[in-house]
Amino acid sequence: MGVESTRILAEIYSEAFKNMPEQKWGFSELFELFSIREIISFVICLDAKPIGFALLRILADEGEIITFCILPKWCNNGYGKILLERIVDILKKRSIKKLFLEVRENNKVAIKLYNNCSFKVIGRRKKYYKNNQVEKIDALVMQYQFIK
Ligand SMILES: CC(C)(COP(=O)(O)OP(=O)(O)OC[C@H]1O[C@@H](n2cnc3c(N)ncnc32)[C@H](O)[C@@H]1OP(=O)(O)O)[C@@H](O)C(=O)NCCC(=O)NCCS
Repeated sequence: MGVESTRILAEIYSEAFKNMPEQKWGFSELFELFSIREIISFVICLDAKPIGFALLRILADEGEIITFCILPKWCNNGYGKILLERIVDILKKRSIKKLFLEVRENNKVAIKLYNNCSFKVIGRRKKYYKNNQVEKIDALVMQYQFIK
């Protein structure tokens, strides 16, 4: 991922996670992540323009979605599902066995998306996310199982 592409994805990230208590990554954090061998990115485009992306960490036969977002103006149009199903398809071909992610327990839209794509809740991380430094919110750990 070059400088210009990172800049575009950093803008999408900042809009998508505006006012959300998840970790805030800027251009430099994302640029650093893209230089890590185990990190792969998937970008969804509309009319050749990126509207969302996912970053995954792949270690041996397991993957972790470390971030996933769609530009707010394109949300609730099924693009998240298209991107996630494509990721699952590609990972299947790469013989990945398990795919994990963490999601804030009150992020209803994301949880709906992950449920729609057959992810199951397998655990909970207590008080994982800080909300304005006051309230702390649990994270649900979800998993997509490729092999039954
Ligand atoms: C989560 C996110 C990626 C979803 O992308 P999207 O393109 O809107 O996803 P989709 O349109 O494919 O699916 C959204 C689903 O949530 C549903 N939904 C929308 N608002 C909802 C609400 N308030 N409560 C419950 N479900 C809701 C939609 O109806 C849709 O389900 P359906 O297809 O069964 O009708 C996007 O909202 C986003 O980027 N959010 C900000 C960043 C974020 O939270 N990322 C996830 C971090 S783990």
